[in-house]
Amino acid sequence: MPDTPGPAGSRHRPSILVTGATGNVGREVVDRLVALDTHVRCLVRRSPGPRPDVDWLVGDLTDPADVRAALHGMDAVFLIWPLLDASPARKILAELVRTSPRVVYLSSTAIDDSAPQQSDPIVQVHAEVEALLDEAGLDPIVLRSDTLASNARGWVAQLRVTDEVAGPDVPRTPVVDERDVARAVAAALLTPRAHLDDGPYLLTGPEALTRAEQVGRLGAALQRPLRFRPLPVDQARARMLTDGRPQPLVEALIAASTQRPASTRITDHLQRLTGRPATTFATWAIEHAAEFPAPAPSRATPTARGGGPARRR
Ligand SMILES: NC(=O)c1ccc[n+]([C@@H]2O[C@H](COP(=O)([O-])OP(=O)(O)OC[C@H]3O[C@@H](n4cnc5c(N)ncnc54)[C@H](OP(=O)(O)O)[C@@H]3O)[C@@H](O)[C@H]2O)c1
Repeated sequence: MPDTPGPAGSRHRPSILVTGATGNVGREVVDRLVALDTHVRCLVRRSPGPRPDVDWLVGDLTDPADVRAALHGMDAVFLIWPLLDASPARKILAELVRTSPRVVYLSSTAIDDSAPQQSDPIVQVHAEVEALLDEAGLDPIVLRSDTLASNARGWVAQLRVTDEVAGPDVPRTPVVDERDVARAVAAALLTPRAHLDDGPYLLTGPEALTRAEQVGRLGAALQRPLRFRPLPVDQARARMLTDGRPQPLVEALIAASTQRPASTRITDHLQRLTGRPATTFATWAIEHAAEFPAPAPSRATPTARGGGPARRR
């Protein structure tokens, strides 16, 4: 790993495989690892285009041959499992066992370790992959993440046409900034193992928020009078299907909204890993305001400087 001396006293530059590298968390992980001068290889289904500091390898996370090729020469892997079925992971983990890299797996804080069955299919698959990693003897570093702030990107289409976000209500939870999660992932990949806990690390934001509170904070950042309208299950299902989400995912999201318990558990694990406090959702909203539709000119409230909403990249 990073502080291992290489040949002739040179420092070993760690090589890290990133899965899910085009996703909300993965993109942030890649940027941080590149900034930390690691060799980054990403297993992607489609190459996002040339980037000199990253090695894209086109393949599928569920294909053992693709994963074998991607793992060649890697010291560590950032693993996500973005499927609703854990069973294909078994063959993939066998590939990891062959090369025994350090494994950092992104899981879910919603796992209840004392429950024989998890609250919903999304949490269930995370718990099953954790169990498979243990069974395989991979000694993973498990980072369990709370609900990601970046899920709010799913509201963009609605906010183009209305000030209302309508959808299934979800229980209150300490939403976590995906950039903080990525910092934690980079720390887990690169910190000498002896300095890490056995885990799992529980990565949470600093305050438990309802969906309505999140929408309210986004509205404040955008200077728009946004509100959340919880939809009954049937309407929520119809809305998500119309949006083009696949049926199994829609059912899993409905189950999550109706069966997952609220959480007010806030931990310092993120700070322990990254050395900095967790970012609030209000800050996330301000810093991502440019990704959301601006207020219509007639609605915009001029500020003392004559500007619109805060728009930082
Ligand atoms: N969202 C949450 O609130 C939350 C909470 C706790 C834990 N997590 C965990 O965090 C993970 C990452 O979240 P995210 O928001 O970054 O996800 P995301 O934005 O949906 O990204 C998923 C990534 O996985 C890739 N992918 C999907 N299927 C693949 C396959 N068969 N082979 C290769 N790559 C594949 C996607 O690639 P394409 O670009 O090709 O689609 C994309 O890069 C989730 O999968 C989940 O396990 C999420």
